[in-house]
Amino acid sequence: MLQLTSQKTKSKNIEIHIFGLGYVGLPLAVRLAISNWNVIGIDVNSQRIERLKQNNLMESELILKKEFIESLNQGRLTLTTELPKITDNKIGIICVPTPVPDNNQSSSIFVEDVTKKFLESSKKGDVIIIESSVEVGTTDKIKKIIELKGYKIGENFGLAFCPERIDPQNKKWNLENIPRIIYCSDDNTFEICKSIYQNVNNSNLVRVSSSITAEIVKSFENAFRLVNISLVNELAILCDKLGINVSEVIQAASTKPFGFMPFYTGAGAGGHCIPKDPTFLINSSKKFGHQFSIIEDALKVNSFIPKYIAKSIENLLVQKDLAKSVIISGMSYKPDIEDMRDSPSFKIVKELTKLGFAIAVHDPHLKKDLIPKYLIENKMKEFNFTILEDLDEKILQDYSCLCIVQHHTKPKLRIEEIYQKSLIPVIFDCQNQIQKDPKSHTILKSFGGQNYSF
Ligand SMILES: NC(=O)c1ccc[n+]([C@@H]2O[C@H](COP(=O)([O-])OP(=O)(O)OC[C@H]3O[C@@H](n4cnc5c(N)ncnc54)[C@H](O)[C@@H]3O)[C@@H](O)[C@H]2O)c1
Repeated sequence: MLQLTSQKTKSKNIEIHIFGLGYVGLPLAVRLAISNWNVIGIDVNSQRIERLKQNNLMESELILKKEFIESLNQGRLTLTTELPKITDNKIGIICVPTPVPDNNQSSSIFVEDVTKKFLESSKKGDVIIIESSVEVGTTDKIKKIIELKGYKIGENFGLAFCPERIDPQNKKWNLENIPRIIYCSDDNTFEICKSIYQNVNNSNLVRVSSSITAEIVKSFENAFRLVNISLVNELAILCDKLGINVSEVIQAASTKPFGFMPFYTGAGAGGHCIPKDPTFLINSSKKFGHQFSIIEDALKVNSFIPKYIAKSIENLLVQKDLAKSVIISGMSYKPDIEDMRDSPSFKIVKELTKLGFAIAVHDPHLKKDLIPKYLIENKMKEFNFTILEDLDEKILQDYSCLCIVQHHTKPKLRIEEIYQKSLIPVIFDCQNQIQKDPKSHTILKSFGGQNYSF
């Protein structure tokens, strides 16, 4: 059965159904469609489907625009909210969100949901590939759901877990050149995956022996980043106390040719992956009575940093007898992207609000019509701050401090100008990137840096 599917895949004579057309699913759908696969992209968000059908792409998707339009025009990519009922064999690729589990929902709720939908019109020889980052044991859960339908995994139904490692906006490492970890239920399924991923990353697949190993690898990679980001951020706090610059420390430590890898300071890890995936390791350990304390501590540090930054800004303004008013610049959790999920900037806003600050925010990627979405993504009830379209001189006069949480490329020159021309009393740089200008009268304070002009 799976051998037949393998043959069909070699000639691309099989439909691929991609569930979830977000940061992970859409680039994959386009990549496969442009390589002459017939792809059906399914997303429950009807607004997203409508937007895509109108070729209205978000900033981070624009890089795909040419290939996206070509795929639609050639009929290789179909966008829909409803799962098409087909009688032929098909391959399902799951790219839906995997939230942090709580009392109301498991992390695999959407993965299970789409699996059940896929199975409604499945037949022997079909294959499911999970790309979402899942909690330990999820692939086994999915296996049981498929088996309950009477299929035999590895014999007449294939199952693979191939976690996505994409880093949106990374210019060096992208879908095409990032190697992928993969677990496959059997050799035929591995052959099928090789045919598919040939058009994704040239089949640069590292096969591991069990689904749990692959699940642990994915969570461990992100735990590694979380722990190191928290480590460098805690070091930044110490450097603040010592009056030395953390960037100089990192730069000097980086000269060690082995055993050290630089991580850089900031307001903390955000997004849908780094703060979430490591929690899967904590939960898994708990089941064996073990506490994964280093990750728990890293998460604590990660949620403390916005509080520390807010307090540092307050102390500085009080000390200088300045009004408690601040502009937060750069709201997304990484540079040059419109992704605002679980972003530390929103946590800083929450903390400054508690401290009684007047707050305005500026981010060229922030869209007013998406405010309800940002509120949900950052667990906020309301936005009690002003959104600024630009950082013009008149507006700056109303604020004591410009706090840069994220350095985007677009306002970079303007921020340099604000500093050089001393257009605001204080600049607080959470990423410690602005170089000291002795001619400026603006007080420059960097997280983990020295206090300049004090
Ligand atoms: N964003 C990243 O950089 C990244 C990187 C690697 C891995 N991941 C992982 O990939 C998965 C997806 O992340 P993302 O960033 O693409 O999320 P996303 O929110 O950008 O996209 C997910 C899409 O799935 C849709 N969806 C939800 N439930 C659905 C259902 N039942 N049927 C069909 N569609 C459904 C949503 O409407 C949304 O459009 C997550 O597990 C995430 O941890 C993300």
